[in-house]
Amino acid sequence: MSRDNLFLIGLSGAGKSTLGRLVAGRLGRTYADLDDVLEEWEGVSIPEIFREKGEDYFRRKETEVLRWAAGERRGIFSTGGGVVVREENIALMRESGRVIFLDRPIEHILRDIVVSGRPMLRGDKQNLIALREARLDLYRKAADVCLANDRGADAAAEMIMDWVRRWERTGGIHGGIHMEITREARLAALLGYPLGHSFSPAMQNAAFEAAGMNCIYLPVEVKAEDLGDVIRGMAKMNYLGCNVTIPHKVAVMEHLDEIAPAARTIGAVNAVVFKEGRAIGHNVDGLGFSRSLTEETGETAQGKTLFVLGAGGASRAICAVFAMEGARRIYICNRTEARADALAAYINGSIRNCCESVPWEPEAMTPALRDSDVLVNATSVGMYPRGDALCLDAGLLAAGAAGAVAAEARAPGSGPPGAGGPRRKLLVCDIVYNPVRTRLLEEAEKLGLRTLNGLAMLAGQGEASFELWTGTKPPEGIMRAALERIAAKPSGTV
Ligand code: ATR
Repeated sequence: MSRDNLFLIGLSGAGKSTLGRLVAGRLGRTYADLDDVLEEWEGVSIPEIFREKGEDYFRRKETEVLRWAAGERRGIFSTGGGVVVREENIALMRESGRVIFLDRPIEHILRDIVVSGRPMLRGDKQNLIALREARLDLYRKAADVCLANDRGADAAAEMIMDWVRRWERTGGIHGGIHMEITREARLAALLGYPLGHSFSPAMQNAAFEAAGMNCIYLPVEVKAEDLGDVIRGMAKMNYLGCNVTIPHKVAVMEHLDEIAPAARTIGAVNAVVFKEGRAIGHNVDGLGFSRSLTEETGETAQGKTLFVLGAGGASRAICAVFAMEGARRIYICNRTEARADALAAYINGSIRNCCESVPWEPEAMTPALRDSDVLVNATSVGMYPRGDALCLDAGLLAAGAAGAVAAEARAPGSGPPGAGGPRRKLLVCDIVYNPVRTRLLEEAEKLGLRTLNGLAMLAGQGEASFELWTGTKPPEGIMRAALERIAAKPSGTV
């Protein structure tokens, strides 16, 4: 199906109808406000539908209207503020068209609001703030592009038309990539062998597209014996950089001109920047985790106590970055204890003396967990197709969490030695992202603990890579939203 409709989404008062009508007029396209269509079909107003038949009925009708719109060609549609609450609606919009999220400052919405009697449109600031907060992720997930509508209707209409023209020029001709690809295009790639189905191309291309950059990210399978040639070739081409994955993260180092100090300490490279013919290696695995932690929870590594399960490459990157960023203590616990000993000794010797190896036994794990703020699963346990596996016994998690909650209730200064006062509930993180909700996260949620899934961490390392290559931050939330969209697809092999 060609994606030539345009859907405007956002809160009530974001400017969807005004801009939809304006842009349709200027581009000579048909326009409909889908709330108006629904009222016409039903013969009564939306507040009446809510009152008489309830929200469920309204949402069902809304989807019917959307199905009609999805069957149109080149239409421009403004949607109701809650259209994104149904997955099916998001799919209908994205399959048949482009979706623009209009993000308008709450103050502007309040300034212009005329109480129309529609549900949710009450002009109440707290209400609007809460609603925006609750729906922001959904709007981002549904959108191809997020536009700030904060400089007047004309400016916003121009931005929308820019995007429509760009999509019209390039619509679908590049197999899923809808940017204009010219001689000036810059490339990025994922190198690995074999490459399974990777999330990175969709995530990076969504960010390039939303940022309006003339860049493409490609998956490239490279055998070990060809790695040096490929890196040297890329350095001479229009490549901004690449990510490196299994099995090349260590082997790639000998083919680089320079290695950033953190990557050298970690002993592996997973992002390369090409600059003036030179290849410079970085490691953003641990950085991705610490970024996602800060973005999702507002917390930093500084002063935190971590309990890390696993002592492989992922654990090494996470522990190294947390040691560099000032963690108070890092407990490393691994099935093969000798590997945990070796990793703890390495970080203590090369970065800071903050790691302690913990035997893989309940008696040793429980007190360490009780002393921890953050638990990270850095093993592959729980990954598809063994999604039923649990890396940490549920009883042990409960015992460890109980300690952290009790610590939270303690008065400041009376925590365990060096803890620096009461702690918040244990935060449970999993590097596994397939499935997104692992059994560990499920058990943590049952205990009322905070969780951070592997997609957040993957997006964190994607954002850090993007920034290294382009020197700018990707549009906020776009990578995470792209990942959630792919993860939601019913496919067993993500
Ligand atoms: P990565 O680079 O992704 O960290 P890795 O180096 O192979 O991959 O490390 C995998 C980690 O998962 C290791 O810590 C491994 O423990 P061992 O060192 O004892 O092998 C851990 N792991 C894998 N399968 C496991 C299982 N069934 N139970 C516990 N730990 C497991």
